[in-house]
Amino acid sequence: MDDLVLINQMQPSVMAALEENFAIQRYWEADNKNEFLAQNSSARFLATNGHDGCSAEIMDALPMLEIISCYGVGTDAIDLQAAKSRSIRVTNTPDVLSDAVAELALGLMLALCRRIVDADRFVRNGEWPSAGYPLTGELTGATIGILGLGRIGKEIARRAQAFKMQVVYHGRTKQRFEPFPFYENLEEMAQDVDWLVAVAPGGASTTKLVNRTVLQALGPNGAIVNLGRGSLIDEAAMIELLNSGELGGAALDVFEEEPKMSEVLWSMPNVVLSPHQGSATEKTRWSMGDLVVRNLLAHQSGMPVFTPVV
Ligand code: NAP
Ligand code: 8YV
Repeated sequence: MDDLVLINQMQPSVMAALEENFAIQRYWEADNKNEFLAQNSSARFLATNGHDGCSAEIMDALPMLEIISCYGVGTDAIDLQAAKSRSIRVTNTPDVLSDAVAELALGLMLALCRRIVDADRFVRNGEWPSAGYPLTGELTGATIGILGLGRIGKEIARRAQAFKMQVVYHGRTKQRFEPFPFYENLEEMAQDVDWLVAVAPGGASTTKLVNRTVLQALGPNGAIVNLGRGSLIDEAAMIELLNSGELGGAALDVFEEEPKMSEVLWSMPNVVLSPHQGSATEKTRWSMGDLVVRNLLAHQSGMPVFTPVV
C-alpha cells in the first residue's frame, strides 16, 4: 500500500476510506515532526485540511510528494507557489459545501438581526412573564453587499433574495452575467449596504481588505458577517468600533487566529459567534471527505483529479 501523510485526523468515514487504500502516517500524533517527516520522506500522497494546510518546509521534507488533497475549498494555508514550483498537484473541495456555508450565512444574519440567541436566553432565564422582549430589526427589505460573489457568494445571494433583500457585490472584476449591481470600491459598497458579508478567500491579496475605513463606512446601522477567513477583517479595529457603537453588529464564523479570539467579543450583545461551522454538517462533510479520497485515488491510478487547484 502507498503511504499517505495525513496532517490531521479526519472524520470516521474519511479515515475508513483512506485506511482501505493507503497506509496512513499520522502527522498530528508525532511528537517530533522533523523525525516523522524524515521517516516518511518517500511519501507521494498527503491530505490536510483548510486550517492546517501544508507549508513549503513540509514539501521540502517530502521530496517525492505528488499530491496534496485538501479537505476544504480554501487553500490559503497551503503554499501553492511552493507546490507549483515542485510540480505537486493540489486539490480542494469546491461546490459540495456551498449550500451549507450559504445556509449558515443567512442563519447568522437572522440570529443577529432577530436576536435569536439572546431571546432564547431571555426565555430560559424566566424573564418572559415579567416583560416582553424588545423589538428587533429584520432582513426583509435590507441591502446585502457580498464581498466575493463566487460559488458560495452566489448561493448567499439566492437565499438573500428569498428573504426579499437587495443584493449588491464587490470583487476584483464585474461579472458580466450577474444581475446584481457591482461596486468596484469596497468602501463605497459598505456605505450603501446594511449587511456586508465577506466570503472571499484568505491570503496575501485579501488580508484586512475589510479595514477600519470600510467598517466605519458600514456604520452604526450596519453589520459585518464573515464566513470567508478571519484574515479578511481587521479584527482589532472591528472590536473597537463595535465597542464604541460606530459599527452596528457582527456575525462571525471565522477569526484571525481561530480558535483564539479576543474574549471581549464574548460579552458583546451585538455579536453572534460560530466556531467555523460553515461546512460542518454531516451531509456536506461526507461529500467533502468523499472528494478528498476520490482525488487521491484518481491520482494514484494515473487518472485526472476531479477538482484541481494547481
Ligand atoms: P470562489 O468561488 O473562488 O469565490 C471567491 C470570490 O472571491 C470570487 O467571486 C472572487 O471574485 C472573490 N475574490 C477573490 N479575491 C478577491 C480580492 N482580492 N478582492 C475581492 N474579491 C476577491 O470561492 P468559494 O468556493 O465561494 O469560497 C470562498 C471562500 O470561502 C473560501 O476560499 C474559504 O476561505 C471560505 N470558506 C469558508 C467556509 C466556512 O466554513 N466558513 C467554508 C468554505 C469556504 P473575483 O475573482 O472577481 O475577485
Ligand atoms: C473547513 C473551510 O471547515 O472549505 C473551507 O475553506 O473553511 C471549511 O470548509 C476547513 O477546510 C476545515 O479545516
